[in-house]
Amino acid sequence: MTKASNRSMPKATTISNSPEETIALGEAWATHARPGWVIGLEGDLGAGKTQLVKGIARGLGITEPVTSPTFTLVCEYNGKLPLAHLDFYRLENDEQILSAGLEPYFSPEGITVIEWINRWTGPLPADYRHVTLTQTGENERRIEHEDSRA
Ligand SMILES: Nc1ncnc2c1ncn2[C@@H]1O[C@H](COP(=O)(O)OP(=O)(O)O)[C@@H](O)[C@H]1O
Ligand SMILES: [Mg+2]
Repeated sequence: MTKASNRSMPKATTISNSPEETIALGEAWATHARPGWVIGLEGDLGAGKTQLVKGIARGLGITEPVTSPTFTLVCEYNGKLPLAHLDFYRLENDEQILSAGLEPYFSPEGITVIEWINRWTGPLPADYRHVTLTQTGENERRIEHEDSRA
């Protein structure tokens, strides 16, 4: 793994005006899903991270309900590709993430989506999308994403 920030692509911004629009964005992203892809989500509580993951899951053909794995740390689903949904909210730093045994999820066979990725300051995989969600109104969210390439 290398530092993704060294070779990032330009940022893209999407404005979402409803949870459904955020889900639709995740669904659209899932059409580009490929093995080994990791998506990191950053944003306050209620920013819409889990809604976006619901959309990604839907786009992968997963019909099980997606809930935030805040306590379980990881939820795994089987769709067109396996999806691992992680939440680092309760983990404070790199050391705790490593002690929890979560490092293998940075090089998945399918795709990994991680809420609260900002808890991790270590290296990121080559095929990585960093997403920042910001609440800009009651139902408005600014969703910015940046891809890195090997
Ligand atoms: N445009 C929007 N996109 C996503 N969620 C929205 C939007 N507008 C309102 N919401 C609401 O904000 C909340 C987002 O919750 P959630 O996705 O669990 O956030 P997070 O995982 O970032 O804590 C939900 O209650 C959702 O209905
Ligand atoms: Mg969440």
